[in-house]
Amino acid sequence: MVGRFTARRSAAPDLPAAEEPSPSALEGVSWTVAPEASAAEPMQATQQAENLLLRDRLLDAKVRLHRRLIEEINLSTLDKVPEEEIRRHVQQLVTQYVLVERLALNTQELNDFVSEILDEMTGLGPLEPLLKDPSINDILINGHECVYVERAGVLEPLSVRFKDEQHLLRIINKIVSAVGRRVDESHPLCDARLQDGSRVNVAVRPIGVDGPLVSIRKFSKKPFNLTKLIDVGALRPPMAELLAAAVKSRITTIISGGTGSGKTTMLNALSAFISEKERLLTIEDAAELQLQQPHVGRMETRPPNIEGKGEIRQRELVKNALRMRPDRIILGECRGEEAFDMLQAMNTGHEGSMATIHANTPRDAISRLEQMIGMAGLPMTVASIRSQIANAIQLIVQLQRQSDGRRKVTSIAEVTGLEGDIIQMQEIFKYVRTGTAPDGTVQGHFQATGVRPRFLGHLAHQGIKIPGTYFDPSQPL
Ligand SMILES: Nc1ncnc2c1ncn2[C@@H]1O[C@H](COP(=O)(O)OP(=O)(O)OP(=O)(O)O)[C@@H](O)[C@H]1O
Ligand SMILES: [Mg+2]
Repeated sequence: MVGRFTARRSAAPDLPAAEEPSPSALEGVSWTVAPEASAAEPMQATQQAENLLLRDRLLDAKVRLHRRLIEEINLSTLDKVPEEEIRRHVQQLVTQYVLVERLALNTQELNDFVSEILDEMTGLGPLEPLLKDPSINDILINGHECVYVERAGVLEPLSVRFKDEQHLLRIINKIVSAVGRRVDESHPLCDARLQDGSRVNVAVRPIGVDGPLVSIRKFSKKPFNLTKLIDVGALRPPMAELLAAAVKSRITTIISGGTGSGKTTMLNALSAFISEKERLLTIEDAAELQLQQPHVGRMETRPPNIEGKGEIRQRELVKNALRMRPDRIILGECRGEEAFDMLQAMNTGHEGSMATIHANTPRDAISRLEQMIGMAGLPMTVASIRSQIANAIQLIVQLQRQSDGRRKVTSIAEVTGLEGDIIQMQEIFKYVRTGTAPDGTVQGHFQATGVRPRFLGHLAHQGIKIPGTYFDPSQPL
């Protein structure tokens, strides 16, 4: 189930035994009328203000009911009770509670309220519906009162609220404790992963100035394949065919792009063309890649523990991977000292290895690599760094998130070698932006530049023929 965690709480003595998870544990919970809940007060506010008031009261009631239930129920038994049964009992309790509190709810609202209480009890509270909504890619929380989501590439604010900072912190701790970590003032930053694979980053006070910042990149249950990427207009079939052929024939490829531009998605889609006979090793901070091949070894870095010890960095994993007889190494994101080891691997029998990099253009990706190697403190001249890069990398796929939220392959460039100490590159395909429609949609088209990739010969050796017309700029792609 999406994002579900079981709250860990030892059985309280007066609660039913774990073997007999009788929901009768929920019985005997009675409610007293909260003083502020009197509906008799005349309300002369506008409809909007009334709605807001109701929402606040509901939120308040929910949190109080939740606290009460947590106190009363042995949560460890909840796992063993069928969801339907819990729902039925919570429904009874909530109905009773709603009467006592005199909350005016229709059936739909009551059902929603029950769902929300259930989410609070067994899941991640207000985050649950967002995690279940397949149209949401990213969930971004800036303090307990401000939640944004990304839908179809566009950010939108939501009216989802947490009761207060404590409520949000409780949910954060539920998430991070599931991966054996904790966040507090002395450890305000944390990466975690939900049970379903979604990637989570948390920054609490004092780092998060206005309260906890939570960023969730939801795991795609059905990752895009190359055909789907063509369907959504991220690239055209001839470009896809060239990329697939390149990956198949072990042309070392880098995928470059900004945050959320679709790098991991593209890497996943391209990996489908790697032969099933090869042994792949993946290295990531939080395992996100979903390779379809049978022979994959997945590795994840480890952050330092509370005493600041035990960290395992990407660089160590790349070095270690070389001792594990990989055919190719797939590095989720190259961003530091591991760049040098990765290039070495690419140069020494692990051709066809792939990585993503944060950069805005293919040229920029190369400079980023240069900087990363430069900063690793190795005694290398600029010329030798560049020659390493030029020898290792053959193809760069550039992605961009356009202003209308769509992701596009804005450039496919081939690295052709070194002239003097300048790395030579040639662009094969590009996206030409022509304007913006009144509704904000970006207009443009993909185009061949007229350059034929040099690795076509290599492809031909492998029996892969790419039609020459693909590279003719006068032909529509
Ligand atoms: N071409 C596309 N069309 C629509 N949605 C896409 C496309 N490519 C990726 N996405 C969606 O956009 C989100 C971000 O994609 P992805 O994780 O691949 O980006 P990224 O560049 O790896 O991000 P980060 O820099 O955070 O690692 C995902 O939810 C993904 O499903
Ligand atoms: Mg990514």
